[in-house]
Amino acid sequence: MEIDLELEKQCDAIIAEYPKKKSAAMMIMHLVQEKFGHFDDSTINFVAKKLGVEPIEVYGMLTFYPMYSQQPRGRIHIKVCRTLSCALAGSIKLGNEISRFTGCPMGETRGVYTIEFVECLGNCVKAPNVQVNDKLFDEIRPEDAEKFMEKISALDERGELDQKPAGAKPQGAGDFNSAAYKG
Ligand code: FES
Repeated sequence: MEIDLELEKQCDAIIAEYPKKKSAAMMIMHLVQEKFGHFDDSTINFVAKKLGVEPIEVYGMLTFYPMYSQQPRGRIHIKVCRTLSCALAGSIKLGNEISRFTGCPMGETRGVYTIEFVECLGNCVKAPNVQVNDKLFDEIRPEDAEKFMEKISALDERGELDQKPAGAKPQGAGDFNSAAYKG
């Protein structure tokens, strides 16, 4: 993948905000993930060089954190929580229904969709939870999977699923259980 001057500058600006280069690792990796959609050897080496670490350390973060990927993802990235609270509330069935409805097998990418089960999304009290790109949706019943995906398509058409730039503040509770889903 081509590392351009703009990316170099953006990385340097982020690193300058931290007392140690290595402390900027997560932000730099978010930036690279956002720009290229996934990591390959060239981007792993680029990040390692920027942070002054060995490529294996970047690879370790890449494989540990689910927000980073070694494979290109679809424009609509659906993460269904499968941890205890959500699983008890039906998230496994919900995930499988979403997979069936979109035609995208769980854990894979088809067309605009990537769908996967993930661990706790940090909103257990309102299980089951699904994160789509930057947005979190809660209390989605498995029987509402089709209705939920219709809402997701509508949001996508309006550009409301576009990823926020790396470094932007995460979306907060105002987006939980948004009107987009509740309709
Ligand atoms: S168990 Fe699903 S958000 Fe915590």
